[in-house]
Amino acid sequence: MPHAIRFHKTGGPEVLQWEEVKVGDPGRGELRIAHKAVGLNYIDTYHRSGLYPMPLPSGIGLEAAGVVEAVGEGVTEFKVGDRVAYCNGPIGAYSEVKIHPAERCVKVPEGISFEQAACMMLQGLTVQYLIRRLHVVPKSGDTVLFHAAAGGVGLIFCQWAKALGIQVIGTVSSEEKAKLARDNGCTHTVIYTKEDFVARVAEITGGKKVPIVYDGVGKDTFMKSLDCLQGRGLMVSFGNASGPVGPTDLTILSAKGSLYVTRPTLMGYVAKRDELVAAAKELFDLVLAGKIKVAPHQSYALKDAAQAQRDLESRKTTGSTVLLP
Ligand SMILES: NC(=O)c1ccc[n+]([C@@H]2O[C@H](COP(=O)([O-])OP(=O)(O)OC[C@H]3O[C@@H](n4cnc5c(N)ncnc54)[C@H](OP(=O)(O)O)[C@@H]3O)[C@@H](O)[C@H]2O)c1
Repeated sequence: MPHAIRFHKTGGPEVLQWEEVKVGDPGRGELRIAHKAVGLNYIDTYHRSGLYPMPLPSGIGLEAAGVVEAVGEGVTEFKVGDRVAYCNGPIGAYSEVKIHPAERCVKVPEGISFEQAACMMLQGLTVQYLIRRLHVVPKSGDTVLFHAAAGGVGLIFCQWAKALGIQVIGTVSSEEKAKLARDNGCTHTVIYTKEDFVARVAEITGGKKVPIVYDGVGKDTFMKSLDCLQGRGLMVSFGNASGPVGPTDLTILSAKGSLYVTRPTLMGYVAKRDELVAAAKELFDLVLAGKIKVAPHQSYALKDAAQAQRDLESRKTTGSTVLLP
């Protein structure tokens, strides 16, 4: 029988267990996929810890790439042997084999490996909507602030921004991460464990501050990030790596300059099939053109997913990480 990582109670990485699972045949509209690479994402830790509650016991993981092994009734777009990837839909990607809705899958083009696909579907499509599809997006010549610039989403963001002519001030926790972010197109780095990022943003921009802040760190950075925004600027709070922001008094937004705030999620931007397919095509085309380079910075055996999550939460990882079945 195939194996999967599952958890029966919420908690630390130790709750993740390597278990045998029954998979069976795909039903109507579904594919059975033999996974070749699984994406590690911060949201997986929120599911495991209970920050984002879900019914238990449960599988875990939202992103994988692999080969179609069997096709359910009514599926016309995919056939056995196709190389596919996905980043949303029913949870449980930390598995050797998975049944997944065909409408949530895209074909992986020639020239893109399974590992690359598993590195970029969730994090790259997140960057696609952050930089191209929010209600307000940066334009060429703008300078924006991005927290955790050397992370999985961060390194793709820095490269995509550079390709669009957008300058990025990226915050990171160490000198090594600062170099990595700069090597990936980040214009200015701020080591926020040593420097005050509000003061540095004011200094770098000559007092003008930035029109958009992208903040996946959450609790530790949200309030100070508001002080980095120009009047009528946009705060994009898209994650909780340091903990959730929690209830916030909206009058703060008027006091700090008639600011806007959005709290988006990828799932809201790829819910429709045509949105998913178009966004994935845009991402794959940029990677195939060499404008964005994607490769795993860390790989773990799938059965060692607990250690991978431990390293992610301890800020030991950089860029994207894959789990190998
Ligand atoms: N809303 C969406 O659609 C969406 C989609 C994908 C990801 N996200 C969010 O985007 C963020 C980045 O995701 P990712 O998978 O690419 O992770 P990641 O950036 O590779 O890892 C998280 C990084 O956050 C920084 N960080 C700051 N304070 C931290 C703390 N207290 N504990 C742990 N890390 C801390 C660390 O970088 P430094 O060491 O440089 O501080 C760490 O490496 C996460 O918040 C995730 O939930 C949101």
